[in-house]
Amino acid sequence: MSDLLVTQEGGWWLDEKCTADLDFCSWANSVELKGSRILHMGTGAHHTLGIRLGGDNLIVGLTISKEEIKSYLDLIEQKPSLMKSYHVEFLDIHSWNSMMFGDFDIINLPHFGEMPDPRRDAYGDSDLELTLEKLLDSRSGPGALVTGYARSSAWDRAYPVFESLLGKPSFQYFSIVGWETRG
Ligand SMILES: C[S@@+](CC[C@H](N)C(=O)[O-])C[C@H]1O[C@@H](n2cnc3c(N)ncnc32)[C@H](O)[C@@H]1O
Repeated sequence: MSDLLVTQEGGWWLDEKCTADLDFCSWANSVELKGSRILHMGTGAHHTLGIRLGGDNLIVGLTISKEEIKSYLDLIEQKPSLMKSYHVEFLDIHSWNSMMFGDFDIINLPHFGEMPDPRRDAYGDSDLELTLEKLLDSRSGPGALVTGYARSSAWDRAYPVFESLLGKPSFQYFSIVGWETRG
């Protein structure tokens, strides 16, 4: 493990303890999501969200796990066409810069506030409110959605930040809580 960089040890494989991606995919199916640009925090090594929703949508997935990057490379080696609609970056959400990417219709932040680490102060905005403000600069416009995961281990810290910048949620679908943003 690096002394400087905050990384996740190993990679996260699909597990019923974390239903974030499965619930998001169910919600996406329920609204027949198509043609959306999605920023997805936390791909997991399984890349379920990218595999299921890519093709019909354009997805940028973020991870802080080397193993999850490697599993993405293994995945596109097997299915190169997925690269056209599902791209994964090693990027800490707290180092987000909206100038690096285009705009998104959905900013999915299921793991917002998980894995706090003082080392991040040296290179990222570990303040959740500042990070969310930067992420909101990447909204496609009025009606863009921010989604969170009510079963996250950091929900008690993340929810007040969502509420303070976005107000009351617009919907909840199982564990997925969504805000329709204005402006
Ligand atoms: C518990 S795993 C869950 C993976 C997947 N979303 C699922 O539902 O199975 C948490 C994921 O969030 C990512 N993650 C945690 N903190 C992050 C951060 N600060 N920036 C970017 N990704 C982060 C991890 O690398 C990992 O992919």
